Amino acid sequence: MLLEVVDIAKSFGSVQALRGVSLALKPGSVHAVLGENGAGKSTLMKIISGVFPASSGTIRVEGQMVHWNRAEQARAAGVSTIFQEFILLPNLSVAENLFLGRELRTPLGLVDRQRQREESRRILARVGLDLDPDVLTGRLRVAEQQMVEIAKGVMRDARIFVFDEPTAALGDREAARLFDLIRQLRAEGKGILYISHRLPELFELCDEVTVLKDGQFAGHFAMQETTATELVTTMVGRTLDQLFPPHRTGGPGETVLELRDLRTTGFAGPVNLAIGRHEIVGLAGLEGQGQIGITRSIFEGHAPETGEILFEGLPLGHAGPAGGVAAGIGLIPEDRKAEGLFLPLSVARNIAVGLLSGKGLAQPASVPAEDIAAQIQRLRIRLRDAAQAISELSGGNQQKALLARWLVRGVKLLICEEPTRGVDIGAKSEIYAILRELADSGVPVLITSRELPELIGLCDRIVVVRDGATVGSFPGGTSTEEEIMAAAIGGQRA
Ligand SMILES: Nc1ncnc2c1ncn2[C@@H]1O[C@H](COP(=O)(O)OP(=O)(O)OP(=O)(O)O)[C@@H](O)[C@H]1O
Ligand SMILES: [Mg+2]
Repeated sequence: MLLEVVDIAKSFGSVQALRGVSLALKPGSVHAVLGENGAGKSTLMKIISGVFPASSGTIRVEGQMVHWNRAEQARAAGVSTIFQEFILLPNLSVAENLFLGRELRTPLGLVDRQRQREESRRILARVGLDLDPDVLTGRLRVAEQQMVEIAKGVMRDARIFVFDEPTAALGDREAARLFDLIRQLRAEGKGILYISHRLPELFELCDEVTVLKDGQFAGHFAMQETTATELVTTMVGRTLDQLFPPHRTGGPGETVLELRDLRTTGFAGPVNLAIGRHEIVGLAGLEGQGQIGITRSIFEGHAPETGEILFEGLPLGHAGPAGGVAAGIGLIPEDRKAEGLFLPLSVARNIAVGLLSGKGLAQPASVPAEDIAAQIQRLRIRLRDAAQAISELSGGNQQKALLARWLVRGVKLLICEEPTRGVDIGAKSEIYAILRELADSGVPVLITSRELPELIGLCDRIVVVRDGATVGSFPGGTSTEEEIMAAAIGGQRA
């Protein structure tokens, strides 16, 4: 066995995050770890990666017991971890990051940049990445940074690779490339631990799966011998009969938001879009076709190059996100750590502040504590205490807290970029139900999503965006992924 984790427990103060968890990773296999938000997956991976020690239990690598207190020890023993928050230093070049802490030296003891550059090219080529080793990593896209992390592991001859929700921020094509690379690692006899909430990709990629529930071992299955239903039942402890709420049968209601001939910087456009009071509208399209330009024009009131935005019949002319908030618009950003959360602040404070972290300092906002408590309960946010730091919550529960931020202020329009990124399947169905409730009550919802089944299952209407222009509109529920994809690709080749 490559890696054996036996009877691990971990507590954070009074919170028992893991209890009696065991797992065995074979060489040449991809082993999924599945469980609800807060089940303890990331905590387990951090213990395996040496970020912090377990409270009790043992870890063996190739039969040898190990005791790790620091990530560097695990790395030296051949564990390479691709965390969701990257540890690459943004102001160093790719080559410098790859050789960080083990620089190549000239006979005089200076860093041998030339040789590092050449070596980097060779390693990058091995993971199929065509990158200039001199480029700063901060300028790379998430997918590329991930590949550099993997290259770093390959370079150090890591035998165990740990991935914590690697595809959460990737488009389809980038995800496919990552899967190819993981398969290549498997073929070389590496062991891979793989966390994801996306069941289809687990079935596509993984050989076996360990399920955690409430910090405890809940089951282990060979991927080929299990079904999605069995896995979901094991992780949530009940059968989930319906992921999406029913679509609206009444009409869309009067128009609340209208975008007329809107052109945003860098895209051909134009966008023409109207959203009714009771609608959930989804923006579909290939990666980076201007979807975010549209959501931010509405929330931040960027002066569009041409065209106009009407909100409740009046031109929306606010400057900056504070104006969007004042107008009664809420936005959940796609990158919740960088743009949404105030990580050092408490959960309560994060909900009370009606701002995005990427856009300003957390001003005190007067929201009654009981309103915050009511949203925490309504959304079933799992926490110890509303006063604890939001950084201590699991990814999915952080996402719910961002939703609570807008629910608590009774917004008149809610925009969600990737509403269920990193959210488990049970919590997904809860979020979908709440978005539907909002639309029914007269608060329209605009979402962007990379997941077509989500757009089709949730939205009343799906609007396809290509090069910053609205190029098609499809009814939710009855449309197929193929027709939406065809519109998204348009004349260009796939
Ligand atoms: N540093 C910490 N301090 C206090 N509690 C923590 C800390 N890290 C995690 N926890 C708690 O441990 C539990 C497990 O969290 P963990 O992040 O492992 O969940 P997860 O399975 O990765 O969930 P998700 O799918 O939402 O990412 C949660 O209740 C979380 O709040
Ligand atoms: Mg996690």
